[in-house]
Amino acid sequence: MRPFIVAGNWKMNKTLEEGLTLVREVLARFERTPPNTTVVFAVPCPLLQAISEVLRERQGFYLAAQNCHHEEQGAYTGEVSAAMLVSVGAQYVILGHSERRQYFRETHEQLARKVTVALRHNLTPIFCCGEPLAVRERNHHLPYVARQLRASLFHLSETDLRRVVIAYEPVWAIGTGKTASSAQAQEMHAAIRQLVAKRYSSETAQAIPILYGGSCNAQNASQLFQQPDVDGGLIGGASLRADEFSAIICAARST
Ligand code: PGA
Repeated sequence: MRPFIVAGNWKMNKTLEEGLTLVREVLARFERTPPNTTVVFAVPCPLLQAISEVLRERQGFYLAAQNCHHEEQGAYTGEVSAAMLVSVGAQYVILGHSERRQYFRETHEQLARKVTVALRHNLTPIFCCGEPLAVRERNHHLPYVARQLRASLFHLSETDLRRVVIAYEPVWAIGTGKTASSAQAQEMHAAIRQLVAKRYSSETAQAIPILYGGSCNAQNASQLFQQPDVDGGLIGGASLRADEFSAIICAARST
């Protein structure tokens, strides 16, 4: 059975005190996570260590960074390496978020290297893919996402690919309040699984978790999560409030 994953992507929000309060409020609502459900907090780098301490010994709750550099170390002022993230307690790292691709010009090649370096350090990449609105309107969304996966994930061995989480996030749905319909999400998730089956094997395609992201909230989560190929969500805005994020975690239970 694939794990169900609810990951909160805080982006560039929350100071240390605000972040600690939010995590403590979410943890207070759960003795443990719902069965087979993993909860991930993807927090800004300066908050990682302190939040890691709060999450310690809380089964089912994990910590993620939102990016890492593709080199091991060196003269890259302002950047953060995979080894550094591990050293402060991160277990996951979001890679290839559309905001990184768009505002920081991250390329397919850089992302392929980031995925490799993350896995080398035993970080689980949450690899984001998804098409902009113009591509969806031309009905080219399936080949567009296929290209993102081929260019940045399909260099991995089958064993390594099984250590990756994929997040499908249509760019037009991120932060816009416009969620993909359950049918649109399911179509893409099934297509991604088919691509993985073709490149690797159907066992690996069945094993890999595929999350949906883009204006997912407490109202629409359970409908999205009921789709057979949707294995959870990558939640932006709705992860910034304890009540809303907790409701989304509970929506995982019904699947
Ligand atoms: P959103 O962001 O839920 O605010 O649309 C999702 C994301 O960017 O991961």
